[in-house]
Amino acid sequence: MGKNQVIEIKENAPNYTKLVRPKFRLGGAKRDAASPVKWGERTRCARVARIPMLEIRPGEPRDLAEIAAIQTASPAAAAWPAADYLQYDLRVAVRDNRVAGFLAARTVAEGESEILNLAVAPEFRRRGFGRALMESFLKDVRGAVFLEVRSSNSDAREFYKSLGFQELTLRQNYYADPPEAAIVMKFHSC
Ligand SMILES: CC(C)(COP(=O)(O)OP(=O)(O)OC[C@H]1O[C@@H](n2cnc3c(N)ncnc32)[C@H](O)[C@@H]1OP(=O)(O)O)[C@@H](O)C(=O)NCCC(=O)NCCS
Repeated sequence: MGKNQVIEIKENAPNYTKLVRPKFRLGGAKRDAASPVKWGERTRCARVARIPMLEIRPGEPRDLAEIAAIQTASPAAAAWPAADYLQYDLRVAVRDNRVAGFLAARTVAEGESEILNLAVAPEFRRRGFGRALMESFLKDVRGAVFLEVRSSNSDAREFYKSLGFQELTLRQNYYADPPEAAIVMKFHSC
């Protein structure tokens, strides 16, 4: 991926906060049409939005412990030795200096890539972080993007569908521990 991307996360996210900063008029303002308040009078409360910022950047060795912890907390996701991701396209979503999620992908052939894993820490889910990671990847690739997801992982299946992935086929006995079929999903990136 190119330069780090900083993304404004949707305003209705659970951790979105607004600071209410009281504003006071300073100076000797007269009460007239242009300045209809007395000096020192509390005039209004300005709502100042503190937009939570999310940074998407390439994953690095310093991120591996946090990536491993997210995997441990995400049993529905694949479980790789975290260091293995460094040889692929690894992206992390960083919020307040914490790795909140990661995506690992690889190019399989020209015009074809594969998502190896994607997970967001449970406490950061449903805030648009997974979408931000995936959109960061999809805008950098062209052609078909494939992934496998456990058939029981309805949350992830809904997530991928919301991004435009389509369910292609069922691969029986694809996963072990616990054994389960995989749904193969595909996205076409123009
Ligand atoms: C799948 C996963 C990565 C989604 O990440 P996320 O940051 O929570 O997802 P987002 O907040 O970006 O969701 C984007 C959209 O996807 C859909 N979506 C996400 N989670 C969903 C859920 N649990 N149920 C239904 N739809 C869901 C919604 O349309 C959502 O938009 P909305 O919040 O405006 O309704 C996350 O749930 C996760 O880490 N799961 C465990 C690991 C895993 O299963 N990985 C997939 C391996 S194949």
